[in-house]
Amino acid sequence: MDVSPKLVIGNWKMNGLREQTVQLATAVAEGACSLPDDVKLVICPPFTQLERVSDILETVGTDSKLQLGAQDCHTASSGAHTGEISADMLADVGVKYVLLGHSERRQNCGETDALIRRKVQAAEAAGLVPVVCIGETMAERQDGRAATVLASQIDGSLTDSFNGVLAYEPIWAIGSGVTPSRDELERTLFLLRGLLQSRLKMDDIRVPILYGGSVTPAQAPTIFSIGVLGGVLVGSASLDAKSFLRIAEAA
Ligand code: G3P
Repeated sequence: MDVSPKLVIGNWKMNGLREQTVQLATAVAEGACSLPDDVKLVICPPFTQLERVSDILETVGTDSKLQLGAQDCHTASSGAHTGEISADMLADVGVKYVLLGHSERRQNCGETDALIRRKVQAAEAAGLVPVVCIGETMAERQDGRAATVLASQIDGSLTDSFNGVLAYEPIWAIGSGVTPSRDELERTLFLLRGLLQSRLKMDDIRVPILYGGSVTPAQAPTIFSIGVLGGVLVGSASLDAKSFLRIAEAA
């Protein structure tokens, strides 16, 4: 099974003031145009830079090669939610994808599967593609509970008609420089595909499954050699245009 197109998403996290954003987004946009047709890039800058990046993508003319993503959204479309950003507001500035349930938000903001599922509903209602992040801790991996944790997150975080993207980000691999072995990752990806089939009650699911956690150009070719992989979700390496584009070229 070879999944195409491959989706390469850059999660900038809380990085990017104006000058860095213009340089990084422009370099990625210019590089995206020469990527093969079966690779799609998404960059997810902080909220404050979304419109600026949207304008850059439009100016460079990346079309569907490089699209804009956000790192979160609220469950409501508008109203008395001080400090929050709605999915409609994201769509209004050209955002097409939205990361939801990132482990840093699950851990630091107390986001639950039920809350993430409501965010998925809001994203889908606004026409965005939800990218739902799941992943186990090192303790859960060592105790042999990873499959149970992942199944629970899939059951709780996804809507019944989910048609977005699933990102498997083992928490122990995020920012650590450590990634699963190729065999371990392939086994987990097949497990997740099976869990999605039972959760969505369909065999031929179209939900790409991404891997995230210390993805760098060095081991990108090995990760992409796994046919069932739908792409990658890149953190630190997405803050350097050359590294991010080299990862995309390995897809
Ligand atoms: O969302 C992607 C991120 O969690 C992975 O971060 O720095 O390990 O690539 P990093």
